[in-house]
Amino acid sequence: MTSPLAPELQAKLDHTLAILRRIAGEHSPAVFANSFGAEDMVLTDLIARHQVGIEIFSLDTGRLPAETYDLMGQSRERYPTIPIKVYFPRAESVEGYVNERGINAFYDSIDNRKECCRIRKLEPLTRALAGKTAWVTGLRREQSSTRTDMTEQEWDTGNGLTKFNPLLEWSEKEIWAYIKAFEVPYNALHDRHYPSIGCAPCTRAIAVGEDVRAGRWWWENPDSKECGLHAKVSSLPVRQ
Ligand code: ADX
Ligand code: SF4
Repeated sequence: MTSPLAPELQAKLDHTLAILRRIAGEHSPAVFANSFGAEDMVLTDLIARHQVGIEIFSLDTGRLPAETYDLMGQSRERYPTIPIKVYFPRAESVEGYVNERGINAFYDSIDNRKECCRIRKLEPLTRALAGKTAWVTGLRREQSSTRTDMTEQEWDTGNGLTKFNPLLEWSEKEIWAYIKAFEVPYNALHDRHYPSIGCAPCTRAIAVGEDVRAGRWWWENPDSKECGLHAKVSSLPVRQ
């Protein structure tokens, strides 16, 4: 069958699929961290369509936009054979934070913001990665100034396992070409000028010409705009 994709994108797709298959073959058990953003829907579709042996999980912070929950439901219907395991933050940690600092304390200081991300994302991530050999993300190089030095395969020092970024060299346009060609479900907020989506209170729409991550933690400096999920990675590529 002829591919619905341009040859250059088809080549990138073949490369990404080869990485995913290698992860499943040589780095099992491996897990894919799915935020239900556009990139992650491409990876979900690839894993389901080609039956790649990589489990999928998502971190539900409890503060996600309604549209993300809608897409979680749609994904369950579209990919019934691929369960997406959801991790929640520890209830007592959220209670402690909210009662001591306030429900929306993340707007008050970087420390408060990072502590909220630690409780709602980082701690659940450590449980999701426990006992795994590798994890997979939908990170792309062009997304941010903090992502330009990443490699497709890295050693994640903080979490103690290999991290793969198989869409690293894809452009935003290519992500959307795949989504349209294969009719992949996507977050309705993407059609409302939200190229990058995280928690509802920490994400807003961007204006024409703004950076794709300008709507994430918009009150902070661009170089501090990472929640910590991707902060502790060694710059040394690991052996292939
Ligand atoms: S973030 O660090 O700023 O939140 P971003 O939203 O760009 O990250 O997503 C980058 C990658 O991190 C995603 O492709 C996904 O692999 C992972 N990720 C981010 N948020 C989540 C989440 N809530 N659950 C699972 N994975 C996530
Ligand atoms: Fe908390 Fe905002 Fe981080 Fe979500 S993105 S965990 S609401 S600080």
